[in-house]
Amino acid sequence: MQDTITMTKLILVEDDAGLREQMKWALGEDFQVLEADSLDSTLACLDSDRSPLICLDMGLEGRSDRGLDIIDAVLAADRTAKIIAVTANRDGAVAKEAIRRGAFDYLSKPLDMDSLKSVLERAKRLRALESEDDDAPSWIPVDPDWPMIGESEAMKSIFSVLRRLSDTDVSVLITGESGTGKELCARAIHKHSRRRNAAFVPINCGAIPENLLESELFGYVKGAFTGADADKMGLIESAHKGTLFLDEIGDMPHTLQVKLLRFLQDQRLQRVGDTRARALDVRIIAATNKSTLSGSGEDAAMRTDLYYRLSEFEIKLPPLRERGRDALVLAAGILDRNRQRFGQPRLRMSSRAEKAVLSYGWPGNVRELENRLNRASITCKGQIIEEEDLQLGDSIGGNMSYREARKAFEKNLLLNALHRSNGNVSLAARTVGVTRPTFYDMMRKTGIYIRTEAKV
Ligand SMILES: Nc1ncnc2c1ncn2[C@@H]1O[C@H](COP(=O)(O)OP(=O)(O)OP(=O)(O)O)[C@@H](O)[C@H]1O
Ligand SMILES: [Mg+2]
Repeated sequence: MQDTITMTKLILVEDDAGLREQMKWALGEDFQVLEADSLDSTLACLDSDRSPLICLDMGLEGRSDRGLDIIDAVLAADRTAKIIAVTANRDGAVAKEAIRRGAFDYLSKPLDMDSLKSVLERAKRLRALESEDDDAPSWIPVDPDWPMIGESEAMKSIFSVLRRLSDTDVSVLITGESGTGKELCARAIHKHSRRRNAAFVPINCGAIPENLLESELFGYVKGAFTGADADKMGLIESAHKGTLFLDEIGDMPHTLQVKLLRFLQDQRLQRVGDTRARALDVRIIAATNKSTLSGSGEDAAMRTDLYYRLSEFEIKLPPLRERGRDALVLAAGILDRNRQRFGQPRLRMSSRAEKAVLSYGWPGNVRELENRLNRASITCKGQIIEEEDLQLGDSIGGNMSYREARKAFEKNLLLNALHRSNGNVSLAARTVGVTRPTFYDMMRKTGIYIRTEAKV
């Protein structure tokens, strides 16, 4: 038995003394167990200990939802408390409400001790993760030549969390607007984890047609359906010992969500048409840019139970416009990377361009910043990027007429083609399917002048 001083404290809130005794017996080896049976006695168990673990029977003092008041009171006293709500059999509404008010997870009676132990272990890991201190880094390596960058407080604390999450197998849900770096975060976690030598498998759930998604994800056996003429491993299986990145998880059809949930619960997978289940070791990271991911009602993007499984830890990436001077730090990083990758000369932004970058809203976030800088690198004169080169007023939309929108679209297309061809006009013309003279003509009409050093 561990020394009680170093053991994590667990408060059991349960008014059935027999059940409490049983639980204490099952958990006493791993936790220092305190007992309570009411709101007052629960609050009395809280002391200076940070993030206490609490196993809370939701039906106390003769009311099936008395636990909700206890959740409110405990979290008001200590926001970091990890509460596991225990509901009467199939009382889904109370469980949902408990989670909404901030409970860590829920289980229903009759209690399965193994499930309770695994939920408690998870809560314990999370608690350790949250309380560790770090000397907030301002970047985290991802690819050999491209770290994730940010000096704002928000991003620095995300980098600390990413490092700590790497040491665990906690499933992570990353939310944030498009282009904020969700995939980069997922790669960073994988890269720092014990799984780094196994595969990182990204799947965009929105990009695979619904009828193919199931067999893509789960694989199939020969004869499972017409055309299945050999066994095929699915993407989940190919992430064995590695990390599966489920991008745009909100786009996954509900029927598949059920199947995925089953896999997450017991880490066993059945290929389509197979009778055998295979045990797998896969860490799941999911991402979405939809803010209304879970909830009740028909139109909720995700089943609530799946949402809680996937979001043992949630990382909310702030939009670029809320990251202070990070846009400039990122811009410098991007220009430096382009110089190394494409052998571009050393470019920098004028102070007017810098001001414009800081005041622009960046609806497309870091990806938009990259695109604009890539294009500006082609069009700028000399080695200074001017405000005009960034064309921050040129986004399509707003009050544009059709003619203006068309011109902006054309310009965008040409600039992107030029960037991809590294300034080579013949090649760029070929990618958009026009002749070189026509391309020059279009450049002139849309007002693109390329840097004289750029290859033409
Ligand atoms: N903090 C950062 N430091 C460096 N590069 C970044 C950072 N954040 C994003 N990027 C870069 O911006 C681009 C978009 O990032 P990523 O694909 O991870 O975003 P996303 O949130 O998954 O976008 P989407 O919602 O459109 O899929 C990538 O090229 C990535 O390398
Ligand atoms: Mg993405």
